[in-house]
Amino acid sequence: MRKLTYFIACSLDGFIGDPEGDATEMYRFVDEEFTEFLTAHYPETISTPGRRALGLDHLENKRFDTVVQGRGSYDVALKEGITSPYAHLRQYVASRGLTESPDPQVELITDDLIGKIRELKAERGGLDIYLCGGAQLAGALFGEVDELVVKSYPFAYGTGMPMFASASGVREFGLDEVRAFGNGVVVRTYGRKR
Ligand SMILES: NC(=O)c1ccc[n+]([C@@H]2O[C@H](COP(=O)([O-])OP(=O)(O)OC[C@H]3O[C@@H](n4cnc5c(N)ncnc54)[C@H](OP(=O)(O)O)[C@@H]3O)[C@@H](O)[C@H]2O)c1
Repeated sequence: MRKLTYFIACSLDGFIGDPEGDATEMYRFVDEEFTEFLTAHYPETISTPGRRALGLDHLENKRFDTVVQGRGSYDVALKEGITSPYAHLRQYVASRGLTESPDPQVELITDDLIGKIRELKAERGGLDIYLCGGAQLAGALFGEVDELVVKSYPFAYGTGMPMFASASGVREFGLDEVRAFGNGVVVRTYGRKR
C-alpha cells in the first residue's frame, strides 16, 4: 500500500499558520542547511516556482509522486496566478465548491474524498502520497494518515490554525526519526500504529 503522509510545517505550539492560516512567518527558517535537507530528501515538496528559483527543476521525485491539497491551500498559489503549483507531481485538489479545475494538470476531488484516497493508496507501485494540507482537509483525512512528517519551527503563534481541524478520536503514532538543524528546526517522522 502507498502511504498517505501528512508532511507539514508547524510552530512549536502545533499550529500550521496564524488563525487565518497564513504561514509566511515560517519561511525565514528555510535557510541554506534546511533547503539542502529538503532538496536531498523531499525535493518534490518544494513548489514548482520554488524549484525553478533554486535551479532544482531537474530533480527526480524521491518520496512522493502524488499531492493532495484542500482548495484553501490551493487558493494560496492560485492567488499568485499559479494554477499548477506541483507540476512534477500528480495533483489533486479537494473541493465541493469548484466545478471545473483551473488547470488540466490538477484533478478535482468533489465527492467521496476517503474513497478516492483509498483508491490512490491501493495503486500498485509508485511513490507515496503527499498530503499537503490544510487543516480542514487533514481533519477530513485524519483516519487515513499513515505517516506524519512534522517540521517544527522554533517560534510560537499563541493561537492559530491547527494541524487537523474538526477531527475527533485518538490516533497513535510511533517515532521513526528525528533530525535537528542549526537554526532550531526539528523534523520528526512518525508512523501510524495500527
Ligand atoms: N504550514 C504548512 O505546512 C501548511 C501547508 C498547507 C497549507 N497551509 C495553510 O493552510 C491554510 C488552508 O487551510 P484550510 O484548513 O483553510 O483549507 P484546506 O484544508 O486547504 O481546504 C479546505 C477546503 O477543502 C475542501 N474540502 C475539505 N474537505 C473536503 C471533502 N471531504 N471533500 C471535498 N472537498 C473538501 C473544501 O473546499 P470548497 O470550499 O471548495 O468546497 C474546503 O473549503 C492556508 O492558509 C495555508 O497557508 C499551511
